[in-house]
Amino acid sequence: MKKLLILALLAIQGIAGAIAAEVSIMPQPVKFEIQEGAFAIDATTPIVIEGKELQTTAKVFAADMAEFFGSKAMKVCRKGNDAISLSTDATLAAEGYTMQVNAEGVKIVGGSAAGVFYGLQSLRQLIIQTNGEVPYCKIEDEPTFVYRGVHLDVCRHFFTVEEVKEYIDIIAAHKINRFHFHLTDDQGWRIEIKRYPELTKVGSVRTETLIGHGGTSNEYDGTPYGGYYTQKQLRDIVKYAAERHIVVIPEIEMPGHARGALAALPWLGCTDDYIPVWTRWGVTQEIMCAGKETTYEFLENVLAEVIEIFPSEYIHIGGDEAPRNRWKECPHCQERMKAEGLLSEAELQSYLVARIEKYLHAHGRKMIGWDEILEGGVTPTATIMSWQGARGGINAAKKGNYVVMTPNSHLYFDFYQTETKEGEPLAIGGYLPVEKVYQYNPYRKLNDDEKKYILGVQCNLWTEYIGEFDHLTSMLLPRLAALSDVQWAENRRNEQTLRPRMEQMRKLYDAYGWNYAKFYYEGRK
Ligand code: ACM
Ligand code: ZN
Repeated sequence: MKKLLILALLAIQGIAGAIAAEVSIMPQPVKFEIQEGAFAIDATTPIVIEGKELQTTAKVFAADMAEFFGSKAMKVCRKGNDAISLSTDATLAAEGYTMQVNAEGVKIVGGSAAGVFYGLQSLRQLIIQTNGEVPYCKIEDEPTFVYRGVHLDVCRHFFTVEEVKEYIDIIAAHKINRFHFHLTDDQGWRIEIKRYPELTKVGSVRTETLIGHGGTSNEYDGTPYGGYYTQKQLRDIVKYAAERHIVVIPEIEMPGHARGALAALPWLGCTDDYIPVWTRWGVTQEIMCAGKETTYEFLENVLAEVIEIFPSEYIHIGGDEAPRNRWKECPHCQERMKAEGLLSEAELQSYLVARIEKYLHAHGRKMIGWDEILEGGVTPTATIMSWQGARGGINAAKKGNYVVMTPNSHLYFDFYQTETKEGEPLAIGGYLPVEKVYQYNPYRKLNDDEKKYILGVQCNLWTEYIGEFDHLTSMLLPRLAALSDVQWAENRRNEQTLRPRMEQMRKLYDAYGWNYAKFYYEGRK
């Protein structure tokens, strides 16, 4: 009898094992136990919510599933059997959740509505992988990092509101909670500022665009290129993201990467000369004057409107790649340095950044900037986004500044995905296959105390060489799936389970028609 029981148990485990090999979740949950049996989910399965605060989260899931099922949205209600039941329990981690699937249905309990949302993302993966025959299981889950970001540059190439929303859909499916929206640069100013209509009227349009690589080409397409978002559209994007538990962090570049603004308002520069919106890629010498008081007034007036549109705790002020040569020749800049006792142009940039941070603090916000803002000294309250490798971030964390890690060595998704580049469209350079993303260690060279200053991890997607949405998503996917394990499941990453889980993620991408790169799946590096 005992033997029979053991045999039966083995058979059950065998089935469970087979299912376990088939279904998986990306990013990796803390615990995922599969049991025997399956609960069938289709478009008629009701979603039962405990409180009104889960209504939007439930409806987003219902709409996403309707797209998959090709049906009407699942009903969201207060009571029902054989249902997907959603509730919260504040004793769980805020973004954590538990999920149980058994004969009675699915029960997801989140630490907050965000936790429920992440539970639903896991459930969606299981539904797609099993065509609705979701195995009985128990899941416990919570993220490693509080900041899990994805960036998008809409200045080099512009993407419509609908495309930005689809981008948000994609990142939400990977449990991302920060969308870094790069809105101003040399090649175009893309955010409506009511006080300065010239910014979008003049600054959002370049006369033409470079063809080929910025390092070698002098050929242009002769076609004007532009685009911008109205404040109403940006509010709509912020709301859409918030419904998916994503905070939009706007970036307003200063003092460099500012030719959109300089073309519109030439008095922002050191010389007042007209400088057109840039038609090339790279780093330009033309930056805002840090001497004139009018520059500070301008920046504060712009930020006043930015703050009204974006409720984000953080405002990104850029700060990268600002050659300070013009400042050396500028009487306004030199006068400011003298008056403020600043010993170098790097210190002048720090003075500008510190003034802007003060303004943001006075308005209840925090400042984040690229690691160049460390160069002339930085306040202890500035948060650093480390992009020139991890060095800036490591140094900042050792000093007690908070850090978001986005090193170009591992997290620049505008880089090539294969070594040979065969079959790849033109890219900025570099080489970043899925495996390298997965190997990224955000805590490298930091002790336990210093690790606390790493808020999180983000990939950056610059668009000099990316003009089409399908191309954009193929730079993001599937590398983002590998990154999501680093962001959400840093302490439980497992290279052994990466490939089968990446294979499962294809089903999600295929279900929603999200174009993704095939190199990893073809075994090409
Ligand atoms: C950067 O890539 N210049 C932040
Ligand atoms: Zn100046």
